[in-house]
Amino acid sequence: MAQNHSALEQSLLACNACPLRKSAIGPTSYNGSPQSPFMFIGEGPGGVEDQYGVPLVGPSGQLLDKALASVKATRDRIYTSNIIKCRPQGNRTPTLDEACFCANLWLDKEVESVMPKVIVALGSVALKYLKSPDARITRDRGVWFNTKYGIEAIATYHPAYLLRLTGSELVKAKWDVYYDLKAAVEKVT
Ligand code: URA
Repeated sequence: MAQNHSALEQSLLACNACPLRKSAIGPTSYNGSPQSPFMFIGEGPGGVEDQYGVPLVGPSGQLLDKALASVKATRDRIYTSNIIKCRPQGNRTPTLDEACFCANLWLDKEVESVMPKVIVALGSVALKYLKSPDARITRDRGVWFNTKYGIEAIATYHPAYLLRLTGSELVKAKWDVYYDLKAAVEKVT
């Protein structure tokens, strides 16, 4: 049976199950509405998120807000979470083993508790966990796939990736994200 969401959050905040906890101020939980039909899943907390204990509130989150506005969605109406809950030292990308360990422990229970209608994977780590380890964000973004939860998902570029692009590459990636988010919104409405 799905665990009550606030009880789940309390257990998460006390998690000490892997070495990543040592380099983080604490685990980050979620942002937005647990009743939302949309669940956005990022990679893991950066410095700002580690400080506030909330996912996607730093520069990547601010860019996500703008992308959501372009499809007339707002953060309070979606549920945002991460694959891993503790910031790896130096903000490095988590390994797939770290991602699987953490997501098996927490994200899976979160999804079962929220039961969104649609999942949006932000970036490669979320895509690999939700689809398959050999998935590629450049190849597989924008294509619906089914998850082990029985919920359909679509992947798009992580906002941090867009923050590194310039010129025509940035323009193209922004359009890709726009169409991916539009597809997610239209799936539910
Ligand atoms: N990147 C993510 O994937 N998640 C966050 O919470 C912050 C940055």
